[in-house]
Amino acid sequence: MNFELTEQQRMIRDMARDFAQKAIAPVAAALDHEERFPAEIVKQMGELGFMGMNVQEKYGGAGLDTLCYVLAMEEISRACASCGVIMSVNNSLVCWPLEAYGSEEQKQRFLKPLAQGQLLGAYCLSEPGAGTDAAAQSTTAKRDGDGWVLGGMKNFITNGAHADVLIVFAQTDPALKHKGIAAFIVESTAEGFSVIRKEEKMGIRASDTAQLAFDNVKVPADQLLGEVGQGFKVAMSTLDGGRIGIASQALGISAAAYEAALSYSKQREQFGQPICNFQAIQWKIAEMATRLDAARLLTYRAAFAKDQGGRYSEESAMAKLYASEASHFITNEAVQIFGGNGYSKEFPVERHFRDAKITEIYEGTSEAQRMVIASMELKK
Ligand code: CAA
Repeated sequence: MNFELTEQQRMIRDMARDFAQKAIAPVAAALDHEERFPAEIVKQMGELGFMGMNVQEKYGGAGLDTLCYVLAMEEISRACASCGVIMSVNNSLVCWPLEAYGSEEQKQRFLKPLAQGQLLGAYCLSEPGAGTDAAAQSTTAKRDGDGWVLGGMKNFITNGAHADVLIVFAQTDPALKHKGIAAFIVESTAEGFSVIRKEEKMGIRASDTAQLAFDNVKVPADQLLGEVGQGFKVAMSTLDGGRIGIASQALGISAAAYEAALSYSKQREQFGQPICNFQAIQWKIAEMATRLDAARLLTYRAAFAKDQGGRYSEESAMAKLYASEASHFITNEAVQIFGGNGYSKEFPVERHFRDAKITEIYEGTSEAQRMVIASMELKK
Protein backbone atom coordinates (compact mmCIF):
# COMPACT_ATOMS: atom_id res chain seq x y z
CA MET A 1 0.00 0.00 0.00
CA ASN A 2 1.37 3.39 -0.99
CA PHE A 3 0.19 6.52 0.86
CA GLU A 4 2.10 8.93 -1.41
CA LEU A 5 0.16 11.06 -3.86
CA THR A 6 1.33 10.91 -7.48
CA GLU A 7 2.95 13.94 -9.05
CA GLN A 8 -0.27 14.64 -10.98
CA GLN A 9 -2.42 14.40 -7.82
CA ARG A 10 -0.08 16.80 -5.97
CA MET A 11 -0.18 19.19 -8.91
CA ILE A 12 -3.99 19.21 -9.01
CA ARG A 13 -4.19 19.70 -5.24
CA ASP A 14 -1.72 22.59 -5.34
CA MET A 15 -3.46 24.22 -8.29
CA ALA A 16 -6.85 23.94 -6.56
CA ARG A 17 -5.39 25.27 -3.30
CA ASP A 18 -3.76 28.22 -5.01
CA PHE A 19 -6.95 29.13 -6.89
CA ALA A 20 -9.20 28.59 -3.85
CA GLN A 21 -7.05 30.63 -1.48
CA LYS A 22 -6.54 33.52 -3.93
CA ALA A 23 -9.89 33.72 -5.70
CA ILE A 24 -12.42 32.20 -3.29
CA ALA A 25 -11.30 32.50 0.36
CA PRO A 26 -11.21 36.33 0.41
CA VAL A 27 -14.89 36.55 -0.66
CA ALA A 28 -16.30 33.43 1.04
CA ALA A 29 -17.67 35.22 4.12
CA ALA A 30 -19.36 37.90 2.00
CA LEU A 31 -20.90 35.30 -0.34
CA ASP A 32 -22.30 33.51 2.71
CA HIS A 33 -23.58 36.68 4.33
CA GLU A 34 -25.25 37.98 1.16
CA GLU A 35 -26.46 34.51 0.02
CA ARG A 36 -24.88 35.37 -3.33
CA PHE A 37 -24.45 32.66 -5.96
CA PRO A 38 -20.76 32.77 -7.01
CA ALA A 39 -21.36 32.80 -10.79
CA GLU A 40 -17.95 34.29 -11.62
CA ILE A 41 -16.13 31.68 -9.50
CA VAL A 42 -18.14 28.85 -11.08
CA LYS A 43 -17.11 30.16 -14.52
CA GLN A 44 -13.45 30.18 -13.46
CA MET A 45 -13.74 26.67 -12.01
CA GLY A 46 -15.04 25.56 -15.41
CA GLU A 47 -12.08 27.15 -17.19
CA LEU A 48 -9.70 25.36 -14.82
CA GLY A 49 -11.32 22.00 -15.60
CA PHE A 50 -12.89 21.58 -12.15
CA MET A 51 -16.47 21.07 -13.38
CA GLY A 52 -15.88 17.79 -15.20
CA MET A 53 -12.76 16.43 -13.56
CA ASN A 54 -13.31 12.71 -14.13
CA VAL A 55 -14.99 13.01 -17.53
CA GLN A 56 -12.94 11.72 -20.47
CA GLU A 57 -11.19 14.43 -22.45
CA LYS A 58 -13.11 13.55 -25.62
CA TYR A 59 -16.30 14.65 -23.78
CA GLY A 60 -14.83 17.92 -22.56
CA GLY A 61 -13.54 16.69 -19.19
CA ALA A 62 -10.13 16.72 -17.53
CA GLY A 63 -9.82 12.91 -17.64
CA LEU A 64 -8.41 12.69 -14.09
CA ASP A 65 -8.79 9.97 -11.46
CA THR A 66 -11.23 10.21 -8.57
CA LEU A 67 -8.53 11.04 -6.01
CA CYS A 68 -7.65 14.17 -8.02
CA TYR A 69 -11.33 15.14 -7.76
CA VAL A 70 -11.33 14.49 -3.98
CA LEU A 71 -8.20 16.61 -3.51
CA ALA A 72 -9.61 19.50 -5.56
CA MET A 73 -13.00 19.28 -3.82
CA GLU A 74 -11.29 19.46 -0.41
CA GLU A 75 -9.33 22.56 -1.41
CA ILE A 76 -12.33 24.38 -2.91
CA SER A 77 -14.49 23.49 0.11
CA ARG A 78 -11.77 24.56 2.54
CA ALA A 79 -12.19 28.05 1.10
CA CYS A 80 -15.96 27.93 0.55
CA ALA A 81 -18.29 24.99 1.14
CA SER A 82 -20.93 26.53 -1.15
CA CYS A 83 -18.53 26.51 -4.10
CA GLY A 84 -17.69 22.94 -3.10
CA VAL A 85 -21.24 21.66 -3.38
CA ILE A 86 -21.88 23.48 -6.68
CA MET A 87 -18.79 21.73 -8.07
CA SER A 88 -19.66 18.37 -6.51
CA VAL A 89 -23.19 18.26 -7.92
CA ASN A 90 -22.03 19.15 -11.43
CA ASN A 91 -19.22 16.57 -11.40
CA SER A 92 -20.72 13.66 -9.49
CA LEU A 93 -24.46 13.94 -9.87
CA VAL A 94 -24.76 15.28 -13.40
CA CYS A 95 -21.65 14.58 -15.50
CA TRP A 96 -21.16 11.10 -14.07
CA PRO A 97 -24.61 9.62 -14.94
CA LEU A 98 -24.47 11.27 -18.38
CA GLU A 99 -21.15 9.60 -19.10
CA ALA A 100 -22.17 6.27 -17.55
CA TYR A 101 -25.68 5.94 -18.98
CA GLY A 102 -25.97 8.53 -21.77
CA SER A 103 -26.06 7.91 -25.52
CA GLU A 104 -23.26 9.27 -27.70
CA GLU A 105 -25.58 12.05 -28.85
CA GLN A 106 -26.48 12.98 -25.23
CA LYS A 107 -22.78 13.09 -24.35
CA GLN A 108 -21.97 15.40 -27.23
CA ARG A 109 -24.96 17.65 -26.62
CA PHE A 110 -25.12 17.81 -22.81
CA LEU A 111 -22.06 16.25 -21.19
CA LYS A 112 -19.47 18.20 -23.17
CA PRO A 113 -20.68 21.71 -22.25
CA LEU A 114 -21.39 20.61 -18.66
CA ALA A 115 -17.89 19.17 -18.23
CA GLN A 116 -16.36 22.30 -19.74
CA GLY A 117 -18.30 24.48 -17.30
CA GLN A 118 -20.29 26.19 -20.05
CA LEU A 119 -23.51 24.80 -18.64
CA LEU A 120 -24.45 24.00 -15.04
CA GLY A 121 -26.30 20.90 -13.92
CA ALA A 122 -28.68 19.85 -11.15
CA TYR A 123 -29.87 16.45 -9.93
CA CYS A 124 -33.57 16.21 -9.14
CA LEU A 125 -34.43 13.21 -7.00
CA SER A 126 -35.79 14.52 -3.67
CA GLU A 127 -39.45 15.43 -3.38
CA PRO A 128 -41.57 16.68 -0.51
CA GLY A 129 -42.63 13.05 0.14
CA ALA A 130 -39.48 11.29 -1.09
CA GLY A 131 -36.43 12.11 1.00
CA THR A 132 -34.62 9.11 2.47
CA ASP A 133 -37.31 6.94 0.84
CA ALA A 134 -36.07 7.93 -2.58
CA ALA A 135 -38.07 5.23 -4.36
CA ALA A 136 -41.35 6.88 -3.29
CA GLN A 137 -41.32 9.17 -6.33
CA SER A 138 -44.56 10.96 -7.12
CA THR A 139 -43.31 12.94 -10.11
CA THR A 140 -44.85 11.20 -13.11
CA ALA A 141 -43.62 10.65 -16.66
CA LYS A 142 -46.40 9.86 -19.11
CA ARG A 143 -46.02 8.80 -22.72
CA ASP A 144 -46.75 11.57 -25.22
CA GLY A 145 -46.31 10.27 -28.75
CA ASP A 146 -42.64 9.36 -29.01
CA GLY A 147 -41.69 11.44 -26.00
CA TRP A 148 -42.80 12.08 -22.45
CA VAL A 149 -44.66 14.60 -20.30
CA LEU A 150 -43.35 15.19 -16.78
CA GLY A 151 -45.49 16.42 -13.89
CA GLY A 152 -44.53 16.94 -10.27
CA MET A 153 -42.40 18.78 -7.80
CA LYS A 154 -38.79 18.42 -6.61
CA ASN A 155 -37.28 19.99 -3.54
CA PHE A 156 -33.94 20.78 -1.92
CA ILE A 157 -32.33 20.82 -5.37
CA THR A 158 -28.77 22.16 -5.29
CA ASN A 159 -28.08 24.49 -8.26
CA GLY A 160 -31.84 24.31 -8.95
CA ALA A 161 -32.31 27.98 -9.73
CA HIS A 162 -29.14 28.33 -11.83
CA ALA A 163 -28.95 25.03 -13.66
CA ASP A 164 -29.24 24.76 -17.43
CA VAL A 165 -29.56 20.98 -17.47
CA LEU A 166 -31.45 18.88 -14.91
CA ILE A 167 -31.37 15.13 -14.39
CA VAL A 168 -34.95 14.41 -13.32
CA PHE A 169 -36.27 11.15 -11.90
CA ALA A 170 -39.92 10.28 -12.45
CA GLN A 171 -42.31 7.39 -12.13
CA THR A 172 -43.46 5.87 -15.42
CA ASP A 173 -45.56 3.18 -13.73
CA PRO A 174 -46.37 3.65 -10.03
CA ALA A 175 -47.44 -0.01 -9.70
CA LEU A 176 -43.84 -1.05 -10.37
CA LYS A 177 -42.48 1.10 -7.50
CA HIS A 178 -38.69 1.50 -7.85
CA LYS A 179 -38.67 -0.60 -11.02
CA GLY A 180 -40.99 1.93 -12.68
CA ILE A 181 -38.66 4.92 -12.33
CA ALA A 182 -36.86 6.52 -15.27
CA ALA A 183 -34.29 9.31 -15.55
CA PHE A 184 -34.69 12.23 -17.95
CA ILE A 185 -32.53 15.09 -19.16
CA VAL A 186 -34.56 18.30 -18.91
CA GLU A 187 -33.45 21.74 -20.04
CA SER A 188 -34.35 24.65 -17.77
CA THR A 189 -35.72 26.47 -20.82
CA ALA A 190 -38.44 23.81 -21.22
CA GLU A 191 -41.97 25.15 -21.07
CA GLY A 192 -43.69 24.25 -17.78
CA PHE A 193 -40.47 24.21 -15.75
CA SER A 194 -40.28 26.79 -12.96
CA VAL A 195 -38.44 27.60 -9.76
CA ILE A 196 -41.03 27.84 -7.01
CA ARG A 197 -38.79 29.13 -4.26
CA LYS A 198 -35.26 29.21 -2.95
CA GLU A 199 -34.58 27.92 0.56
CA GLU A 200 -33.15 30.25 3.16
CA LYS A 201 -30.55 28.06 4.81
CA MET A 202 -28.39 27.66 7.91
CA GLY A 203 -25.23 27.01 5.88
CA ILE A 204 -23.87 26.71 2.33
CA ARG A 205 -25.79 29.92 1.83
CA ALA A 206 -24.03 30.98 -1.39
CA SER A 207 -25.23 27.84 -3.18
CA ASP A 208 -28.84 27.81 -4.23
CA THR A 209 -31.21 25.13 -3.02
CA ALA A 210 -34.53 25.32 -4.78
CA GLN A 211 -37.98 23.84 -4.99
CA LEU A 212 -38.86 23.14 -8.62
CA ALA A 213 -42.11 22.52 -10.46
CA PHE A 214 -42.58 20.42 -13.60
CA ASP A 215 -45.96 21.34 -14.99
CA ASN A 216 -46.58 19.16 -18.05
CA VAL A 217 -43.00 19.53 -19.23
CA LYS A 218 -42.53 17.87 -22.62
CA VAL A 219 -39.37 15.81 -22.87
CA PRO A 220 -38.33 14.40 -26.26
CA ALA A 221 -37.70 10.65 -26.50
CA ASP A 222 -33.97 11.18 -27.02
CA GLN A 223 -33.72 12.83 -23.58
CA LEU A 224 -34.54 9.66 -21.67
CA LEU A 225 -31.32 8.81 -19.79
CA GLY A 226 -30.76 5.06 -19.69
CA GLU A 227 -33.77 2.81 -19.94
CA VAL A 228 -37.32 2.92 -18.61
CA GLY A 229 -37.27 1.10 -15.26
CA GLN A 230 -33.54 1.73 -14.79
CA GLY A 231 -33.98 5.12 -13.12
CA PHE A 232 -33.59 3.99 -9.52
CA LYS A 233 -30.34 2.24 -10.36
CA VAL A 234 -29.16 5.38 -12.18
CA ALA A 235 -30.08 7.44 -9.09
CA MET A 236 -28.43 5.14 -6.54
CA SER A 237 -25.24 4.42 -8.49
CA THR A 238 -24.88 8.17 -9.10
CA LEU A 239 -25.20 8.84 -5.38
CA ASP A 240 -22.39 6.37 -4.67
CA GLY A 241 -20.06 8.82 -6.40
CA GLY A 242 -21.87 11.87 -5.05
CA ARG A 243 -21.20 10.72 -1.51
CA ILE A 244 -17.45 10.76 -2.19
CA GLY A 245 -17.88 14.38 -3.30
CA ILE A 246 -19.72 15.28 -0.09
CA ALA A 247 -17.16 13.42 2.04
CA SER A 248 -14.50 15.57 0.33
CA GLN A 249 -16.52 18.71 0.99
CA ALA A 250 -16.68 17.70 4.67
CA LEU A 251 -12.88 17.21 4.65
CA GLY A 252 -12.40 20.75 3.36
CA ILE A 253 -14.71 22.26 5.98
CA SER A 254 -12.99 20.25 8.72
CA ALA A 255 -9.51 21.20 7.55
CA ALA A 256 -10.39 24.90 7.48
CA ALA A 257 -11.87 24.79 10.99
CA TYR A 258 -9.05 22.67 12.40
CA GLU A 259 -6.28 24.86 10.98
CA ALA A 260 -7.97 28.03 12.21
CA ALA A 261 -8.40 26.58 15.71
CA LEU A 262 -4.85 25.23 15.87
CA SER A 263 -3.38 28.57 14.90
CA TYR A 264 -5.69 30.47 17.29
CA SER A 265 -4.73 28.18 20.20
CA LYS A 266 -1.08 29.18 19.73
CA GLN A 267 -1.85 32.91 19.76
CA ARG A 268 -4.63 33.26 22.30
CA GLU A 269 -3.27 33.77 25.80
CA GLN A 270 -5.08 33.10 29.08
CA PHE A 271 -3.56 32.71 32.55
CA GLY A 272 -0.35 34.21 31.13
CA GLN A 273 0.29 31.64 28.39
CA PRO A 274 -1.01 30.41 25.02
CA ILE A 275 -4.08 28.22 25.51
CA CYS A 276 -2.42 25.40 23.49
CA ASN A 277 -0.29 24.77 26.59
CA PHE A 278 -3.34 23.46 28.43
CA GLN A 279 -4.20 19.80 28.25
CA ALA A 280 -7.90 20.63 27.81
CA ILE A 281 -7.01 22.20 24.45
CA GLN A 282 -4.38 19.61 23.53
CA TRP A 283 -6.88 16.78 23.84
CA LYS A 284 -9.23 18.61 21.51
CA ILE A 285 -6.42 19.13 18.99
CA ALA A 286 -5.43 15.46 19.15
CA GLU A 287 -9.01 14.27 18.65
CA MET A 288 -9.68 16.73 15.81
CA ALA A 289 -6.45 15.82 13.97
CA THR A 290 -7.09 12.08 14.32
CA ARG A 291 -10.69 12.26 13.08
CA LEU A 292 -9.67 14.47 10.15
CA ASP A 293 -6.99 12.00 9.13
CA ALA A 294 -9.30 8.99 9.51
CA ALA A 295 -11.94 10.76 7.39
CA ARG A 296 -9.32 11.46 4.71
CA LEU A 297 -8.17 7.86 4.62
CA LEU A 298 -11.74 6.54 4.24
CA THR A 299 -12.45 9.09 1.50
CA TYR A 300 -9.25 8.29 -0.39
CA ARG A 301 -10.08 4.58 -0.15
CA ALA A 302 -13.56 5.19 -1.57
CA ALA A 303 -11.99 7.15 -4.45
CA PHE A 304 -9.61 4.26 -5.07
CA ALA A 305 -12.49 1.74 -4.97
CA LYS A 306 -14.50 3.79 -7.49
CA ASP A 307 -11.61 3.74 -9.94
CA GLN A 308 -11.30 -0.05 -9.64
CA GLY A 309 -14.75 -0.49 -11.22
CA GLY A 310 -17.42 -2.66 -9.61
CA ARG A 311 -19.72 -1.60 -6.80
CA TYR A 312 -18.29 0.69 -4.10
CA SER A 313 -21.52 1.68 -2.29
CA GLU A 314 -20.20 0.61 1.11
CA GLU A 315 -16.86 2.41 0.83
CA SER A 316 -18.54 5.64 -0.27
CA ALA A 317 -21.25 5.40 2.43
CA MET A 318 -18.58 4.83 5.11
CA ALA A 319 -16.52 7.77 3.84
CA LYS A 320 -19.54 10.09 3.74
CA LEU A 321 -20.85 8.95 7.13
CA TYR A 322 -17.51 9.31 8.89
CA ALA A 323 -16.28 12.47 7.17
CA SER A 324 -19.56 14.32 7.75
CA GLU A 325 -19.81 13.33 11.42
CA ALA A 326 -16.12 14.21 11.85
CA SER A 327 -16.77 17.64 10.37
CA HIS A 328 -19.65 18.17 12.82
CA PHE A 329 -17.30 17.27 15.69
CA ILE A 330 -14.29 19.22 14.42
CA THR A 331 -16.16 22.43 13.63
CA ASN A 332 -17.92 22.27 17.01
CA GLU A 333 -14.59 21.89 18.81
CA ALA A 334 -13.12 24.71 16.72
CA VAL A 335 -15.87 27.05 17.89
CA GLN A 336 -15.19 25.90 21.46
CA ILE A 337 -11.45 26.63 21.17
CA PHE A 338 -12.24 30.11 19.83
CA GLY A 339 -14.65 30.65 22.77
CA GLY A 340 -16.73 33.81 22.45
CA ASN A 341 -14.83 34.73 19.28
CA GLY A 342 -15.95 31.43 17.74
CA TYR A 343 -19.57 32.46 18.13
CA SER A 344 -18.93 35.74 16.35
CA LYS A 345 -19.22 36.19 12.59
CA GLU A 346 -15.93 38.07 12.73
CA PHE A 347 -14.12 34.72 12.72
CA PRO A 348 -14.59 31.97 10.09
CA VAL A 349 -15.28 28.99 12.37
CA GLU A 350 -18.89 30.07 12.88
CA ARG A 351 -19.47 29.65 9.10
CA HIS A 352 -17.64 26.32 9.05
CA PHE A 353 -19.83 25.07 11.92
CA ARG A 354 -23.00 25.98 10.01
CA ASP A 355 -21.69 24.58 6.72
CA ALA A 356 -20.69 21.25 8.30
CA LYS A 357 -24.22 20.30 9.35
CA ILE A 358 -25.60 19.77 5.85
CA THR A 359 -22.96 17.14 5.06
CA GLU A 360 -24.76 14.84 7.52
CA ILE A 361 -28.04 15.36 5.66
CA TYR A 362 -27.81 15.73 1.90
CA GLU A 363 -26.98 12.98 -0.60
CA GLY A 364 -28.31 10.62 2.04
CA THR A 365 -28.53 11.30 5.78
CA SER A 366 -26.16 9.60 8.20
CA GLU A 367 -29.02 7.23 8.90
CA ALA A 368 -29.32 6.36 5.17
CA GLN A 369 -25.54 5.73 5.02
CA ARG A 370 -25.88 3.33 7.97
CA MET A 371 -28.70 1.54 6.09
CA VAL A 372 -26.44 1.12 3.05
CA ILE A 373 -23.48 -0.06 5.15
CA ALA A 374 -25.56 -2.51 7.21
CA SER A 375 -27.26 -3.97 4.14
CA MET A 376 -23.87 -4.58 2.47
CA GLU A 377 -22.44 -6.09 5.68
CA LEU A 378 -25.42 -8.41 6.09
CA LYS A 379 -24.95 -9.70 2.54
CA LYS A 380 -21.41 -10.88 3.35
N1 CAA B 1 -26.11 0.86 -7.26
C1 CAA B 1 -26.86 0.08 -8.08
N2 CAA B 1 -28.06 -0.41 -7.72
C2 CAA B 1 -28.52 -0.11 -6.49
C3 CAA B 1 -27.80 0.69 -5.60
C4 CAA B 1 -26.53 1.19 -6.02
N3 CAA B 1 -25.79 1.94 -5.23
N4 CAA B 1 -28.49 0.83 -4.46
C5 CAA B 1 -29.61 0.13 -4.62
N5 CAA B 1 -29.63 -0.44 -5.85
C6 CAA B 1 -30.67 -1.32 -6.40
C7 CAA B 1 -30.77 -2.57 -5.58
O1 CAA B 1 -29.87 -3.56 -6.01
C8 CAA B 1 -32.21 -2.99 -5.81
O2 CAA B 1 -32.29 -3.59 -7.07
P1 CAA B 1 -33.33 -4.81 -7.36
O3 CAA B 1 -34.70 -4.32 -7.07
O4 CAA B 1 -33.10 -5.13 -8.79
O5 CAA B 1 -32.93 -5.90 -6.41
C9 CAA B 1 -32.92 -1.66 -5.89
O6 CAA B 1 -31.94 -0.69 -6.25
C10 CAA B 1 -33.60 -1.25 -4.60
O7 CAA B 1 -32.61 -1.24 -3.59
P2 CAA B 1 -32.99 -1.12 -2.05
O8 CAA B 1 -34.02 -2.19 -1.74
O9 CAA B 1 -31.74 -1.10 -1.25
O10 CAA B 1 -33.72 0.30 -2.03
P3 CAA B 1 -34.49 1.05 -0.89
O11 CAA B 1 -35.71 1.65 -1.46
O12 CAA B 1 -34.62 0.18 0.32
O13 CAA B 1 -33.50 2.30 -0.58
C11 CAA B 1 -31.90 3.61 0.64
C12 CAA B 1 -32.42 2.21 0.21
C13 CAA B 1 -30.47 3.37 1.06
C14 CAA B 1 -32.68 4.19 1.80
C15 CAA B 1 -31.94 4.59 -0.57
O14 CAA B 1 -33.29 4.93 -0.90
C16 CAA B 1 -31.19 5.87 -0.29
O15 CAA B 1 -29.99 5.92 -0.53
N6 CAA B 1 -31.89 6.94 0.19
C17 CAA B 1 -31.30 8.24 0.36
C18 CAA B 1 -31.58 9.07 -0.86
C19 CAA B 1 -30.61 10.21 -1.02
O16 CAA B 1 -29.41 10.06 -0.85
N7 CAA B 1 -31.16 11.35 -1.42
C20 CAA B 1 -30.37 12.50 -1.66
C21 CAA B 1 -30.83 13.19 -2.93
S1 CAA B 1 -29.71 14.28 -3.72
C22 CAA B 1 -29.54 15.61 -2.69
O17 CAA B 1 -29.24 15.46 -1.57
C23 CAA B 1 -29.81 16.97 -3.22
C24 CAA B 1 -28.70 17.64 -3.87
O18 CAA B 1 -28.95 18.38 -4.82
C25 CAA B 1 -27.31 17.53 -3.38
